[in-house]
Amino acid sequence: MPLTAVLTGLGAYLPPRRVSNEELADRFDTTDEWITSRTGIRSRRWADPGTSTGDLAVEAGHRALKSAGVDPEPGAVDLVVLATTTPDHLCPATAPDVAARIGLTGAAAFDISAVCSGFVYALETAANAIGAGRARTALVIGAETYSTILNPADRTTSVIFGDGAGAVVLTAGDADRPGALHGFELGSDGTQKDVICIPAGGSRQRAALAEPAPGDEYFAMEGRKVFLSAVQRMSESSTALLDRIGWPVESVGHLVGHQANVRILRAVAEQLGIPAERAVVNLDQVGNTSAASIPIALADAAAASSLTVGERVLLTAFGGGLTWGSAALTWPDVVPA
Ligand code: COA
Repeated sequence: MPLTAVLTGLGAYLPPRRVSNEELADRFDTTDEWITSRTGIRSRRWADPGTSTGDLAVEAGHRALKSAGVDPEPGAVDLVVLATTTPDHLCPATAPDVAARIGLTGAAAFDISAVCSGFVYALETAANAIGAGRARTALVIGAETYSTILNPADRTTSVIFGDGAGAVVLTAGDADRPGALHGFELGSDGTQKDVICIPAGGSRQRAALAEPAPGDEYFAMEGRKVFLSAVQRMSESSTALLDRIGWPVESVGHLVGHQANVRILRAVAEQLGIPAERAVVNLDQVGNTSAASIPIALADAAAASSLTVGERVLLTAFGGGLTWGSAALTWPDVVPA
């Protein structure tokens, strides 16, 4: 019989430097009023130069292991999966270095690239390894330093994204235990790959051959298109998952959506028929942290004790690729470290 992955620990780490809307208004042609009313974001954290995605991931990973009561030593964790859009290097992956720095040398370790949906993709990958009996304990991390890829000439993306990391520990257990993962739904539409992209720096525009066109080395997105697709895909993916696992939408205690924009979160909740006050929102303080956003939101919700142990929780995310994904779990009995 397949084993169930149970969330047994969580933690988050944000770089200390808080960047307010007012500070950005001094730098860009924007205002606190525009940012707050269009996105719900009031401040975000940006890592100082020299701090990498891996650095943030190590901190979050340590905290999640501590919360799970797992000592960071070789053999304690079988699998480390890191979701990120901003790896430390194009090659090698960031996860093996993060695993080694945490003290988990020897664990299988790799990165997952699904942009803002990355954490849900990583969660399903790790849960499947546990379900297949290939891992007993897994560390799943979402970590980003978007401040390193933001175009200083683009006020729209520069006000939205923040840096940070969140992590969870999954352990093989019983499906009736709080924290059990009950199902996933993932999808993609590569015909829309240009809606969110960094044009240069990969094999399509090789850095060594020519200078990229101005701006091509930075993250770019078509905000309006992304907004509409995000609402549609997260709603459809959530509904498909709930239907498949037989959870009536009224039975969902809280929705933890990708923290892209408060208007997107409200629209998804409305389309699903989930009251807005049951949608977890922390983007006002952290901005859009892409693959890190859901685990940071989970850690913040746990720290605030705003969810009840055992209640049904729906995760849903959307991002570049285009990609999307949802996950269903019961709220774990854990305290973040
Ligand atoms: N400050 C002030 N004005 C800004 C601005 C800023 N930071 N950024 C854009 N604007 C302007 C635009 O230039 C435009 O001006 P115009 O009407 O004179 O052309 C106006 O605001 C409206 O732009 P628009 O893009 O239509 O606004 P919007 O209501 O769609 O909000 C986003 C823009 C980016 C906040 C919104 O589309 C969004 O959140 N999209 C999803 C982004 C996201 O989450 N991406 C991550 C992947 S999941």
